[in-house]
Amino acid sequence: MPKLLIRDLRQVVSPAGAEAPLRGRALGELELLEDGFVLCDGPTIEAVGRMNDLGRLDGDVAELDGSGLCAIPGLVDCHTHPAFGGDRVEEFSLRAGGASYEELHAAGGGILSTVRATREAGEEGLRAAVERHRGWMLRKGTTTFEGKSGYGLDRDTELAELRAIRDAGGIATFLGAHATPPEFEGADAYLDFLLAHVLPVAAQLAEAADVFLERGAFDAAQARRYLEACSGRGLALRLHGDQFTESGAIPLAIELNARSVDHLEATGPEGVAALGASDVTAVLLPASALFLSRPMPPGRALVDAGAAVALATDFNPGSAFCESLPVVMSLAATQLTLSPVEALAACTVNAAHVLGRSDRLGRLAPGYAADVVLLDAPDWRYVAYHLGGDVVATVVEKGAVALGRPAY
Ligand code: NIG
Ligand code: FE
Repeated sequence: MPKLLIRDLRQVVSPAGAEAPLRGRALGELELLEDGFVLCDGPTIEAVGRMNDLGRLDGDVAELDGSGLCAIPGLVDCHTHPAFGGDRVEEFSLRAGGASYEELHAAGGGILSTVRATREAGEEGLRAAVERHRGWMLRKGTTTFEGKSGYGLDRDTELAELRAIRDAGGIATFLGAHATPPEFEGADAYLDFLLAHVLPVAAQLAEAADVFLERGAFDAAQARRYLEACSGRGLALRLHGDQFTESGAIPLAIELNARSVDHLEATGPEGVAALGASDVTAVLLPASALFLSRPMPPGRALVDAGAAVALATDFNPGSAFCESLPVVMSLAATQLTLSPVEALAACTVNAAHVLGRSDRLGRLAPGYAADVVLLDAPDWRYVAYHLGGDVVATVVEKGAVALGRPAY
């Protein structure tokens, strides 16, 4: 593979320093070079600098003309649900008429309607769905995605989801505890089955486990039992918590040393302070809050309290049919009052931290993965400023052009 030189870039932008996660003031610091280049050696960045400082390059070097473009790190989506069958457009229409997400869920719609469609899709159907969704993400600049199971809720379909995510290049998370399927009497009986018959194999396919800790889903005692069993099988821990109610997700996440607690639309000042003093990353999903007309999570307060904050799409058919991290960055700026710099760090280096990969993903710096997004904009902040705009011109993934202008 020849080296790839991305040259004459208007701006080259990367979260500052080499630390992860970035918190507090450090979250708002940026390295910005004008008239710059990024030199990729195969899948790894070899050098980043100003064109003036670019020496002669020997050997086989392909070039990508970056004039007029701004380079940011490949975006990292650390929370998605891409493996599902069917859609929820009917439910979307009902919600537009006033029905609530929780009511639809309690009536056997919501997540369980996607479970029915996902079981019917079959493994090939799920593979095609994840590939399609992964393609949508790439067009928005996402070069790394995490994907959760949780729409199978039976052994074969949960495992098929995890395989489909992994084989599409995603980082798989086992969300067996997403809802209780109708064939079980209650959540405890379902967990008995899940832990005995699904977890042992799921633990070979996934890197992390996740649980929906919420009224109408799993309570704190059930979540603890599930997460402890998953941790015992070597999985990192995540929680969907405080989406509608504060039901104990934050203290449990801290006690179990979870990687993250995600959502937090219902989190109050005590939860903010607890996360600020902890090593659990707060993953904020403002597209989901918007999509469900819910309050926004307390993003500014979390950053100011010193919490490690990441942003993600929560891409799924029910609560956030949105694969765009640029839209999420816009929402972070307008709704969470994070600066564009903070928003960028939250969906690059801090998201990589949630996935245990901040040593190699999320920065444009030597030694990091050669995942680079080129924006067709006069200033990199257009990625957040141009709400819903198509600013992503080219995506370089592991040193090769995956989308957009070819190298020559
Ligand atoms: O993160 N709230 C739980 N799970 C997903 C939504 C799943 C669905 O509605 O299909 C979420 O919002
Ligand atoms: Fe989610």
